[in-house]
Amino acid sequence: MKSLNLLVLAAALFIALPASAQQVKPYHQNIKDCAACHTKENAVAGNQFVTPDNKACLTCHQSYAAVAEKTKNLKNGEPNPHASHHYGEGIACTACHSEHKTSQVYCNNCHEFKYQIK
Ligand code: HEC
Ligand code: HEC
Ligand code: HEC
Ligand code: HEC
Repeated sequence: MKSLNLLVLAAALFIALPASAQQVKPYHQNIKDCAACHTKENAVAGNQFVTPDNKACLTCHQSYAAVAEKTKNLKNGEPNPHASHHYGEGIACTACHSEHKTSQVYCNNCHEFKYQIK
């Protein structure tokens, strides 16, 4: 009986963990509300916890142009990742910036740019 209770408890924890255990990046530590990124507008079939769109990021980061302004003069003369001749503003922030796992620069599927992405 006791072991059955433990099993039920373990199962309950297992279900509860994936949502509550999501760590945000150190620079987003002050964002206490998951819905800042996981907006109602982004929800798919009622589930808000899907990859956020650019609009969610840009509520705080203003505009693609504003972000591109910050990375226009990078060290090593690397091209601006926020204003490439391939995609311009037509690429999801999350193609490169992940939140709960390591970020991967999409450009480096083909190039070898030395970016300092966090
Ligand atoms: C609720 C506001 C808010 C939202 C939503 C938000 N951010 Fe941020 N973000 C911040 C703040 C504040 C900082 C720290 C100050 C800064 O660097 O602008 C930050 C920092 C960052 C940085 C690091 C800047 C550095 O110093 O290197 C990146 C990258 C970033 N955000 C990307 C994103 C992406 C991608 C999204 C959407 C998935 C997003 N942010 C959504 C507020 C937000
Ligand atoms: C093609 C990949 C890519 C996409 C798409 C992308 N970023 Fe970035 N972002 C980078 C890289 C790479 C850096 C770091 C550049 C460096 O410092 O070497 C960066 C840096 C940043 C920074 C820090 C700028 C600074 O130095 O203060 C912010 C904020 C940011 N990105 C937000 C965004 C947001 C918001 C979006 C979507 C609107 C976005 N990024 C889309 C690759 C990308
Ligand atoms: C700053 C924006 C931001 C905040 C705040 C944020 N997330 Fe996320 N979340 C993302 C992004 C971007 C992804 C896409 C996968 C990744 O980058 O890790 C994601 C993916 C997820 C997923 C997985 C969805 C899938 O399809 O795999 C879950 C679950 C999730 N977030 C839960 C949370 C919870 C719970 C919180 C609050 C504790 C939270 N997130 C806060 C940006 C955010
Ligand atoms: C699918 C492969 C692929 C991806 C992803 C890609 N590129 Fe390219 N890139 C190329 C090819 C092929 C060329 C040469 C032909 C051309 O100019 O389009 C090129 C050329 C360039 C050039 C001009 C030539 C040079 O090497 O100086 C720049 C700058 C550049 N890419 C930046 C970027 C940036 C920034 C990203 C990410 C936002 C990116 N690329 C993503 C394939 C790619």
